[in-house]
Amino acid sequence: MKILGIETSCDETAASVVEDGVRILSNQIASQVEIHARYGGIVPEVASRQHILAIIPIIEQAMATAGISWDDLDGIAVTIGPGLAGSLLVGVNAAKAIALACGLPLTGVNHLEGHLYANWLNSSSIDSAPTFPLVCLIVSGGHSDLVLVREYGDYLLLGRTRDDAAGEAFDKAARILGLGYPGGPAIEKAARKGDAASIQLPRAWLRGTSDFSFSGVKTALLRLVEGGKASNVADAAASFQEAVADVLVTKTVAVAREYHMSQILLAGGVASNKLLRDMLRQKAPVPVLVPEPVLCTDNAAMIAACGYYRFQSGKIDSLDLDVIPSLKLT
Ligand code: KG4
Ligand code: ZN
Repeated sequence: MKILGIETSCDETAASVVEDGVRILSNQIASQVEIHARYGGIVPEVASRQHILAIIPIIEQAMATAGISWDDLDGIAVTIGPGLAGSLLVGVNAAKAIALACGLPLTGVNHLEGHLYANWLNSSSIDSAPTFPLVCLIVSGGHSDLVLVREYGDYLLLGRTRDDAAGEAFDKAARILGLGYPGGPAIEKAARKGDAASIQLPRAWLRGTSDFSFSGVKTALLRLVEGGKASNVADAAASFQEAVADVLVTKTVAVAREYHMSQILLAGGVASNKLLRDMLRQKAPVPVLVPEPVLCTDNAAMIAACGYYRFQSGKIDSLDLDVIPSLKLT
């Protein structure tokens, strides 16, 4: 079964063809990062306009790279939320137009569920794919969700952020330190030359819950910078990265133990952070699965993979499918 996935929820215009939910035949991404970097963050109206310019060429590239024609497709999967309304609309309308013109079934995908299914991509067989039940930490620009996955599509939200999402915290910390946008990769790069132990930053443990809070560590960093006590940017970046990873890893491991999970999955843009990946692998009592970095950040292969499982369970949407900018996972 070959699915065309389309993703335009934020600032990447992406299209991909995935076979049987695991094999990537193409994975095209047009990033707007350089355009938004000028403003230090995403400008929604600019993002929508860029999506309009990029969407058709990116879909054509995805089809050409996969070496298939429209007749070879079995379905279209598109992100309907959460995300920026104007950006989502571009992908959803392109998907509907293709579904109508080619007489193909259409399914609307939750972007967060898509991040989770990035873990199924490139599995050589269904046997090496993740097995349920499992716990997944989804850490992106807008979310830090600890989710218990009991079955395909059966999610229990165990913990979430009470203020800034993990990726948002990285982006804000990078701004405080005068590093570029997006902040996550900039902090990671700067941290390589730094010593995390040289600056102490606080952790918000929120004991008795599996929730997160990252606004305190961000404010602590700001106070240090304002007070001239974090003049070494590399040390400050390393310390911040470690503080965020420490809390994410500790809470994820605690949940895995409490629920006797035999597997931990990591997903979302922040999952491409090497320290987070390594620390979780080191501290987890069970195997940790993480998609390769390019499949952690926004892409359409994960949407096609998730779409495959939606089609398998008969979840086909009609052409009145609409965007849901504040869509939740549970
Ligand atoms: O999943 P994603 O690509 O888009 C959303 O759905 O939000 O995640 C983007 C977020 C940004 O906040 C970015 O700074 C962060 O992921 N990020 C990272 C890294 N790469 C991207 N954070 C930490 N380390 C990284 N290497
Ligand atoms: Zn994302």
